Amino acid sequence: MTEYTPPPLPPPFNTTTTPPTLIYQGAEAHLYKTTFLTPTTHAALKIRPSKPYRHPILDRRLTRARILQEARCLHKLVKEGVSVPAVLGLDWEGDARNSNSDSASGGGGGGGGGSWLAMEWVEGEVVRAVLERWERYVKDLQRTTGEGVVMDKEERKVRALMKKIGTAVGSLHKAGVIHGDLTTSNLILRPDSHGQAESGDAAAGASPSLEGEIVMIDFGLASQSSQDEDRAVDLYVLERAFGSSHPRAEGFFEEVLAGYRESYKGAGSALKRLEDVRMRGRKRSMIG
Ligand SMILES: Nc1ncnc2c1ncn2[C@@H]1O[C@H](COP(=O)(O)OP(=O)(O)OP(=O)(O)O)[C@@H](O)[C@H]1O
Ligand SMILES: [Mg+2]
Repeated sequence: MTEYTPPPLPPPFNTTTTPPTLIYQGAEAHLYKTTFLTPTTHAALKIRPSKPYRHPILDRRLTRARILQEARCLHKLVKEGVSVPAVLGLDWEGDARNSNSDSASGGGGGGGGGSWLAMEWVEGEVVRAVLERWERYVKDLQRTTGEGVVMDKEERKVRALMKKIGTAVGSLHKAGVIHGDLTTSNLILRPDSHGQAESGDAAAGASPSLEGEIVMIDFGLASQSSQDEDRAVDLYVLERAFGSSHPRAEGFFEEVLAGYRESYKGAGSALKRLEDVRMRGRKRSMIG
């Protein structure tokens, strides 16, 4: 197998003293950990490479729309005090500027970096990884000690985490934003600053920490809406994500809804609508 080499980074990220580290490579975006303006400002750099198989004009339009959409939503949410990373900078033209001329214009030129969005780096781990570790721990626990006091404690911990998730989603909807892709990979659990040991460093076999603050990321599919229907679909997507990825935590999804209900005045009617959305989902899956 030949090793994949990501496209060269756009300026100014090709000149940082320590080169950015590629931490995630999805179909639509590459994520780097880097610094921005000062060597101590940690940043997440999201690059949307251009897609060679897409018509260049359409490609540019789609990429530009998603980068701008994400930046606009993050900007608005930070202003409203919702827990999301702050925008540090962006370039929605990316390498499109150079693609029609020759690539001698310097920087990451021809076929290079794509459009990018730099945002505040969020410490911690995605909830998906945190819950997977927790589920493994609980499974082992059940095998060795059976149910009991320890299990009660673990249930309390996971319920508290899920309630926080509901509160976070509520604060988002309250601000008039729909996420569009609510999964546990798009939620980061940021450890409290007074320093819960990073779960990665925690002693093997120890009960994993579920403490911290929920920070929502990945607003490439977000939109502005205050409709119950859109809010309900957002919640439904999250519910399905728990169903497919976190069988042991799924049973406590009611905590997400409880946190959500308490978070803003219109939550009750969005939750009512969720029942209809679920019903439609069930019908659809019966038809296949
Ligand atoms: N601000 C951030 N701080 C720390 N890590 C981040 C940050 N943003 C993204 N990440 C990490 O990078 C991963 C991918 O980011 P993101 O979810 O935004 O991309 P994506 O899923 O490819 O996006 P899209 O669905 O918009 O194409 C995340 O799951 C997370 O691990
Ligand atoms: Mg994502």
